[in-house]
Amino acid sequence: MKIKYQSLTGMHDVLPQEQAYFKKIQKTVESVSNYYSFEKIETPILEFTEVFQKAVGDDTDIVGKEMYTFRTKGGDMVSLRPEGTAGVMRSYLEHGMHNLPQPVKLWYTGPFFRYERPQAGRFRQFHQFGFEAIGDSSPSIDGQIIQMSYDVLKELGFKNLTIEVNSIGDSECRPYFRKILMGYLKSKRSSLCSDCQRRLKENPLRILDCKEEKCQRVKAGAPQVIDHLCEACHAHFKEVLEFLDELELPYTLNPYLVRGLDYYTKTVFEIVDKTKPEGSADDPETAVGTLIGGGRYDNLSKMLGGRDVPGCGSAAGIERIVALMKSREMKTSFSKDAVSGPPKIFLAQLGQLAKRKSMKLFEEFRSAKIPVAESFSKDSLKTQLRTANKLNIKWVLIFGQKEALEDFITLRDMDTGIQKEIKLDKVVEEMSRLTGKEKIKK
Ligand code: HAM
Repeated sequence: MKIKYQSLTGMHDVLPQEQAYFKKIQKTVESVSNYYSFEKIETPILEFTEVFQKAVGDDTDIVGKEMYTFRTKGGDMVSLRPEGTAGVMRSYLEHGMHNLPQPVKLWYTGPFFRYERPQAGRFRQFHQFGFEAIGDSSPSIDGQIIQMSYDVLKELGFKNLTIEVNSIGDSECRPYFRKILMGYLKSKRSSLCSDCQRRLKENPLRILDCKEEKCQRVKAGAPQVIDHLCEACHAHFKEVLEFLDELELPYTLNPYLVRGLDYYTKTVFEIVDKTKPEGSADDPETAVGTLIGGGRYDNLSKMLGGRDVPGCGSAAGIERIVALMKSREMKTSFSKDAVSGPPKIFLAQLGQLAKRKSMKLFEEFRSAKIPVAESFSKDSLKTQLRTANKLNIKWVLIFGQKEALEDFITLRDMDTGIQKEIKLDKVVEEMSRLTGKEKIKK
């Protein structure tokens, strides 16, 4: 019998047998978010079209070609959300979240919609999870977002991941790079696809993001933004890379990575799985595409008419992750010994090297499932100790310049004021024992 109705092209049912994958991903994201003190936010599926036009950009494929847009009975132009960052920033501004301690760290998950040509890993309704840290311009936040994104995939069982990173500058240096790029692209005009010939005038950077083969060839000889960063962007990017080095994350520089959304400034990154299936020449990376994409968006708030608020985040395609998990028969069970309970330890840091090393230590605590509070975005020790006090935390680990150089850490018992030094490679072990005890043995 011929079936009368089917789901719409590019839209699919998540059947009972697939729920275990979605559940495992959701739980993993929730656990990583909790550890890093990210709170859940839900924004509506519909937003005013203008939110995406202003944030993602009129000239991007997402807004120009792929949005489900319609007029409501009341006469408003609205769109099904094609991505989450614009709505989260709209919510941050609408609810005056700049009055909260910064950065405001949020995570979300849910359905998103893009009218794309359906193919492997590309749907018209798909699910994302995402992280957004709003209100902090420090490179440590970029490092943290990349680490968390990587953590989720690692914890799901992905083994062969690569993080591609680049910096695309800001409103200070990008106009100059744009000019140089424009000069080069104009000389190659006839070799570009028709869309890119049109983009040449309005948004030449988008050409670096074009998937057409002829444009890819032109891209290969194009000038690189990284050679034209202003001092501030250069310094920011250098620090981000230092964080990634310290965190021992497997990254490569991709000087042509620009990402397909207009709100990005400075750091952009994508995480791809590089595993080739056994005995096959197929590259699953090209089959399902990028698993996670993100970056910094320091101008987004202003693009939406708000105050000057920096931000950084990432989002993952859940169907793409599920497709790989299924094809590799990866586990869907979730470990029961998740991190639980309020933190008994506070990790305070002073100076750049200490900050980088404490992010690594924080990750080690996470792997050992020991809850730890931190305040990486604060630079003053006094403020951090005050935060530890407010949280009623007994054990404070102090990571200063000397400690970072000599690979030890100072442990302070906040009740007695007694301090002692612990070797860095013994800290996790020592603290896991100590958090059950009351006093430091001298
Ligand atoms: P995006 O790169 O457009 O970034 O999407 C993020 C991820 O969503 C992609 O890497 C991919 O895995 C998945 N994805 C995108 N389109 C589709 C599709 N048609 N079908 C299946 N999966 C898809 C963003 O959305 C930004 N909001 C990320 C971000 C957050 N940047 C800063 N904060």
